[in-house]
Amino acid sequence: FSKISQISSQPSKPPSFGIAFDIDGVVLRGTTPIGGASRALRRLYDGSGVLKVPFVFLTNGGGIRESKRAAELSELLGVKISPSQVLQGHSPFKQLVNRFENELIVAVGKGEPAVVMSEYGFKNVISIDEYALYFDNIDALAPYKKWGTIDFAVDRTRKCSINSKRVQAAFIVSDSVDWSRDIQVLCDILRTGGLPASEEGPQPPLYFAHDDLKYQGAFPSERLGMGAFRIALESVFNSIHAEALKYTYFGKPNPVAFKNAEVVLKQQASFIYHELNIVNHANSGSHDFQTLYMIGDNPAVDIKGARQAGIPWFPILTRTGVFKGDHHSNHPEFPASMVVDTVEEAVDFILRNEH
Ligand code: G3P
Ligand code: MG
Repeated sequence: FSKISQISSQPSKPPSFGIAFDIDGVVLRGTTPIGGASRALRRLYDGSGVLKVPFVFLTNGGGIRESKRAAELSELLGVKISPSQVLQGHSPFKQLVNRFENELIVAVGKGEPAVVMSEYGFKNVISIDEYALYFDNIDALAPYKKWGTIDFAVDRTRKCSINSKRVQAAFIVSDSVDWSRDIQVLCDILRTGGLPASEEGPQPPLYFAHDDLKYQGAFPSERLGMGAFRIALESVFNSIHAEALKYTYFGKPNPVAFKNAEVVLKQQASFIYHELNIVNHANSGSHDFQTLYMIGDNPAVDIKGARQAGIPWFPILTRTGVFKGDHHSNHPEFPASMVVDTVEEAVDFILRNEH
């Protein structure tokens, strides 16, 4: 028997390993599954579709609620993914709810950044799209922008209240869609203590979901990511302001992202264990994994992060994304414990290794 089947046939212990999958460049390119991802994931369930190996998606991407992302991934990959299995770059923002719960905060990025933040519990969050509408002429280039992404009616009462309140923090939830407007409006907020058009003031905190310089999308070569936007914003801000921009970023390779993934994987291991009707499960929640596999495509993010996180992480690098080395090469600066062609090959290795 493999160790996987031993989970059901010899259920005296919870699973001793788990897997964290990167998304962009490992299981998807754009919205297209790659590298045998669907087949590989199906092997982590039993014949009736019940999860038998703990796994999560540990992605820096985002801009949509975890529940919606789980539904999208289930549809694209043909397996049942639960919202708790989706850890996005911005998921750790929920840890800041206590600090900013009722404060006015601005959320930036593609998708529905304000909805994401509301779901985390922030009660007074506004998207930068809506915020910019309440300041006449704040974007001098708006008349030249032909696209129509903004769908808010300008409510005069809300306009007055937003205009006069200080923004207490800005959160970059996902990739900025309109760099020129977002850099302009963020500089206005950050230079003035959160009140555009007023005098200079102390910089409100600025949080980025992650700092990926590039990522693998549907286009053959990598695309500029949130880290590129951060460089642009920082460079402009530091050129017009005496004090350097202060900011924090979450997401991989931050060790917190890997710690968080480990916690969620433990909960899943415990759930799988309980699902198997084990009577003696007193210590199931506190068991330690022998190995946690991180399957990623970006050496400077996924592999660096898993290496830094240390035991029990085991980084596996695929060749379907940012890393494009040849068959025998590893990344010189952030070498993975193993390099494979595809995610399917990685899962195949894991299941054999855990035999
Ligand atoms: O914007 C998404 C990208 O930066 C990374 O996504 O899934 O490769 O961590 P992922
Ligand atoms: Mg990736």
